[in-house]
Amino acid sequence: MAQWSEGYVTEVEYIADCFPELAPAHLDLALLHRGIAFPDTHAGFNYLELGFGQGITLAMLAAAQPQGRFFGNDFNPSHVLGARALAESARLDNLTLFEDSFAELAARDLPPMDYIVLHGIYSWVSAENRGHIVALIRRLLKTGGVVYVSYNAQPGWAPKAPMQRAMMEFAARHGAETLAERFSAARDFLQSLSRAGAAYFAHNPVAQEQLDGLWDLNDAYLVHEFASENWVALHHADVVRDMAAAKLSFAGSSTLANNFPLFSIPPEIAALYQSAEDPAMREMIRDFAVNTQFRRDIFVRGARHLDATALDGGYRELRVALRRPLADCAFEARLPVGTVNLDCSVCEPILAELAKGPRSVAELAALPGLAKVAPSTCVDSVNLLLCLRYLVALQPCEMTALACERTQAINQAMMTRAVAGRYVAALASPLIGSGIEVDRGDVLFLAPVLQEHRCRSLPGPRCSGPGSA
Ligand SMILES: C[S@@+](CC[C@H](N)C(=O)[O-])C[C@H]1O[C@@H](n2cnc3c(N)ncnc32)[C@H](O)[C@@H]1O
Repeated sequence: MAQWSEGYVTEVEYIADCFPELAPAHLDLALLHRGIAFPDTHAGFNYLELGFGQGITLAMLAAAQPQGRFFGNDFNPSHVLGARALAESARLDNLTLFEDSFAELAARDLPPMDYIVLHGIYSWVSAENRGHIVALIRRLLKTGGVVYVSYNAQPGWAPKAPMQRAMMEFAARHGAETLAERFSAARDFLQSLSRAGAAYFAHNPVAQEQLDGLWDLNDAYLVHEFASENWVALHHADVVRDMAAAKLSFAGSSTLANNFPLFSIPPEIAALYQSAEDPAMREMIRDFAVNTQFRRDIFVRGARHLDATALDGGYRELRVALRRPLADCAFEARLPVGTVNLDCSVCEPILAELAKGPRSVAELAALPGLAKVAPSTCVDSVNLLLCLRYLVALQPCEMTALACERTQAINQAMMTRAVAGRYVAALASPLIGSGIEVDRGDVLFLAPVLQEHRCRSLPGPRCSGPGSA
């Protein structure tokens, strides 16, 4: 390990993926679901990503949200070079990238932030670095600001701890030249142990499942996941305590279904969950109930609860679109609690209307086909469809118009990468205000279409109608 790496992997670059759950519009939606106020982004906002990796998420956001000023740090110069090249080719004048460690970033003169996000960081760095992160949040987050922090969680991740240790020990003694080769060999070693009947796997079926899952990971992911010296699976209650030092309180989850006990807590455990008064205790019950492996927590500095009028207004103005073809929206669907059957009488008209284009919830509630349905039932159905990822929340119309040209520039850059055979996992969407996951094949398929069309020739977003005036 290089000296500056502080126990983190630097030999292999991280994967160039995009995580739309870090987008302000997505975080705001999760807060709306929890009835908590979120920053007003119309007049501009500041956003900081700690440890941006390849910077794809951050670049997509900067392209699709021209009213925002985006900042990020990563101490790996290869990551910073790659992210800066993308930012330059997409002409992102609202994105500033620092080649800083978390400790070094503290010395920067940065503006107060509305959002601070860190994905895939907190349970891979040392306790000292977690302390630097909390100190940065304490100093930089505005009152009312939002933090997203994801981490490997207890108890679901726990069976991996002995495996991670065994892989580290094996890889340290293996003669292969590259880290990827050593960890690939370490994975094979665990499989040999299991096949030879090692009781650990026989007694822990989940560990065996997790071991089998390691073959789905590419080399870069495998080493970034397992080769950190500071690897740990965290209890939510400990993260709550850490964040309290930055005056933050837990506000919800970026995994939308988790904001609704009905969708995310098994019915047999619902009474136990509801009986716990302390939110951290509730989350612990959740984590045991569904054996959580990974958490995407949202914290706020000062939780302001929306009254009924504000909540109603927030939903009426919420604009949504289909995120998959209508034919792929099954009426029997899977949630963490099991299979749910959608109420066709409500969901069918909603989905059919959205197949024509984006709509606000107020517009959907006013559909003739929903005349006999209470507005709250329409909101509940939209929320369920959002949790199922059939729908996606959109950013305000005026932002979409501003973002069109900019997203075109970054999408051209992604196409150039795809044509050159490079890994591409997202395109920027001016509608949702962030990147949206695609694969390289999709990008190559879309390339001629994207090249031919300019934003002005695309149908403009529909902004008229109740709720979006
Ligand atoms: C698992 S990757 C996640 C990257 C990105 N957030 C994403 O989700 O694509 C962790 C990142 O944190 C960076 N990192 C680790 N320790 C760091 C430190 N002490 N200071 C700054 N960056 C660090 C690594 O270089 C790496 O890019």
